[in-house]
Amino acid sequence: MNQSNVSLPPGCVLRKATFGDRWSIRLLVFSAKLDPTQLNWQQFWVIECDGHLVACGQLRNFSGAQELGSLVVASAWRGRGLGTLLTQHLINTSQQPLYLECLGQRLAEFYSRFGFVPISFADLPETPKTKVSSALKDKFRFSQLAKKLLKVPVVFMEYCPNS
Ligand SMILES: CC(C)(COP(=O)(O)OP(=O)(O)OC[C@H]1O[C@@H](n2cnc3c(N)ncnc32)[C@H](O)[C@@H]1OP(=O)(O)O)[C@@H](O)C(=O)NCCC(=O)NCCS
Repeated sequence: MNQSNVSLPPGCVLRKATFGDRWSIRLLVFSAKLDPTQLNWQQFWVIECDGHLVACGQLRNFSGAQELGSLVVASAWRGRGLGTLLTQHLINTSQQPLYLECLGQRLAEFYSRFGFVPISFADLPETPKTKVSSALKDKFRFSQLAKKLLKVPVVFMEYCPNS
């Protein structure tokens, strides 16, 4: 799907999440079996259609980096470009070098359309944690362990717009 040709279906809006969205966000994330930690609604953007939250995604903040995460489109709404729109919006909103982790080749191909390229765990940035933010690599370390020990097909990716 070409990102530039995608527009929201009628009745849908893309907006920053509010306090009132926090349980709907959790429900979406839990239903997709994604990482249930660090679901601060303040970091989320959502798509609301006719009063219902149908998609969400967030930018998690780390020292010197951000992670595009918790991207979910409700199953009844998939395949209509909402995931593409939200991903492109999160990329446009990001203010730090951007990374993500995903499971499997199909998702890696989805993200590669936007300019994400696979990166090895060793090549992830070694940004020191600060009093207010932790290091991205520390968060990804757990997935790297699962990849090594349990052969979980985790792919780490870095946003490289000029690749
Ligand atoms: C991945 C996801 C956000 C895509 O949202 P969407 O609105 O259906 O995506 P779009 O309509 O914009 O684009 C469709 C593309 O999404 C990708 N996609 C759709 N369903 C997918 C799935 N179950 N797994 C992986 N990729 C999928 C495909 O690349 C598809 O392209 P194709 O139709 O050419 O095959 C959505 O399938 C979803 O919520 N999946 C479950 C949660 C998840 O895995 N999130 C990603 C965490 S890293």
